[in-house]
Amino acid sequence: MSRLLTELERRRTFGIISHPDAGKTTLTEKLLLFGGAIQVAGAVKAKKASRHATSDFMEIERQRGISVATSVMGFEYNGIKINLLDTPGHQDFCEDTYRTLTAVDSALMVIDSSKGVESQTYKLLEVCRMRHSPIMTFINKMDRDGKPPIELLDEIEDRLNMVVCPMSWPIGSGKLFKGVYSLVENRLVLFKAHGKQDGPDSVIIESIDDPRLDELVGTVDAKQLRDDVMLVTGVYPPFDLMRYLSGEITPVFFGSALNNFGVREILDFFVAHAPGPKLRESTTRDVRPIEEKFSGFVFKIHANIDPKHRDRIAFLRIVSGVFERSKRFLHVPSGRLIKCNNPTAFMAQDKSIIDEAFPGDIIGLHDTGTFKIGDTLTEGEVFSFKGIPSFSPEMFRYCVNLNPLKTKQLHKGLEQLCEEGVAQLFTMLDGRKIVGTVGALQFEVIQYRLDNEYGAQSRFDALDFVKACWIRSENTTKLADFVRYRQSQVAQDKDGQYVYLAQTRWSLDREVKENPEIEFLTTSE
Ligand code: G4P
Repeated sequence: MSRLLTELERRRTFGIISHPDAGKTTLTEKLLLFGGAIQVAGAVKAKKASRHATSDFMEIERQRGISVATSVMGFEYNGIKINLLDTPGHQDFCEDTYRTLTAVDSALMVIDSSKGVESQTYKLLEVCRMRHSPIMTFINKMDRDGKPPIELLDEIEDRLNMVVCPMSWPIGSGKLFKGVYSLVENRLVLFKAHGKQDGPDSVIIESIDDPRLDELVGTVDAKQLRDDVMLVTGVYPPFDLMRYLSGEITPVFFGSALNNFGVREILDFFVAHAPGPKLRESTTRDVRPIEEKFSGFVFKIHANIDPKHRDRIAFLRIVSGVFERSKRFLHVPSGRLIKCNNPTAFMAQDKSIIDEAFPGDIIGLHDTGTFKIGDTLTEGEVFSFKGIPSFSPEMFRYCVNLNPLKTKQLHKGLEQLCEEGVAQLFTMLDGRKIVGTVGALQFEVIQYRLDNEYGAQSRFDALDFVKACWIRSENTTKLADFVRYRQSQVAQDKDGQYVYLAQTRWSLDREVKENPEIEFLTTSE
């Protein structure tokens, strides 16, 4: 077997989708502990703890440094090289969060058992759906009183429009949580919270009717479990690998990240079934990971922490072939051959210079302004990867220039920050600049960085738009009419494409209904 095949078969690249506080950081940490990538709990948490101090701008700077380190967390488990891509979710929720999901091959959805499906989970899931990424589900915090499991599964099915396939079933919840019963293995995994270590961790039982079940969990819970299992196996489909891989069904596990309960089960499932590097569509053809020639794309750009140096790190996802440090590669958009000096790999908290990398891997390339998000690199062939779109922002502000002597700097700064993917810049038909983001913190970051790095003072005035949609139509007259009649709500993006800015969801729905010949798109390539 060729080395490329061996290496790519042992790669798994994924991201976690969740709403803030569902337990992503806790779970990440437990996964890294299993993988031996960190030795003590608390390493990932440290990043989050500092996240709340957002009004302290030095903190923003510091965090930019930290988030480079946690952008990709690589670790090994059972001989599999796992790349976990960070999906920032708190105040630092931004377009990068969405875009990261275009660079993974599967995702793990974490749901808080007491909250159910929350808004950010929904939004992130939509991105996974665009790419038909397989999704595993972990229902967390079973040690707390939560919603009944059936209700949670119904919510996933209804709100996320996915078929669920429970792999295990909880026995009690909150203070009375006793563990889970693996529906696949007929195995009872017993929960021992807070240091109660006596007795076995897991017991294989003959079947759900095994009398040992009563001894282990008590007759009342045993009866409940038997009833539940009968119901569940009748209602939900059995696990089907192909349906999981096509993103049609989601296997569901129950557990508690904080108590490290159920984490090994998802990790074992993940290495056994989650897909390795997938083929990827390009402008000319589908590119397969096993192809000998290297190719990859940039999905994220990170500015240097030192504002005096305008250099950046471009995050490249390798799609095919072997990346070798010594080789020259074609930067397709500019047509230039480039050599990547000091490419970095990410292993948990550490960055290290690497000599080669394989499909599924993410490497950091030092960049002085060559790369833009979505750029393709190849060994010479000219094509561009598809599926790395801009996502429609939901928060908008006018950028007001406070120092007319620094107009040029302001424009340059805005342009470069938008290239990094911090925000999107739109120009109203009367020339005013609007900045759109998916997270509120971005405005503070931009204002601070414009001042600090470009010497341009600005103010951001609130605007009451809630959504931007790219508008497109085969019927050019219809589109021109739409733009003319709604001038105060139409802008152009960086490529001159028209964008409709909706003031309410309702008005957007109305426009969509009333203008069937116009497409309203929430992503743009
Ligand atoms: P996030 O990254 O998704 O935002 O969530 P994070 O892991 O930080 O978890 C949010 C809160 O939920 C944390 O509590 C964490 O300890 C708690 N948590 C995570 N998993 C479980 C679980 O299985 N059971 C219970 N009971 N709690 C869980 P916190 O009080 O906000 O932070 P901390 O003081 O514990 O650090």
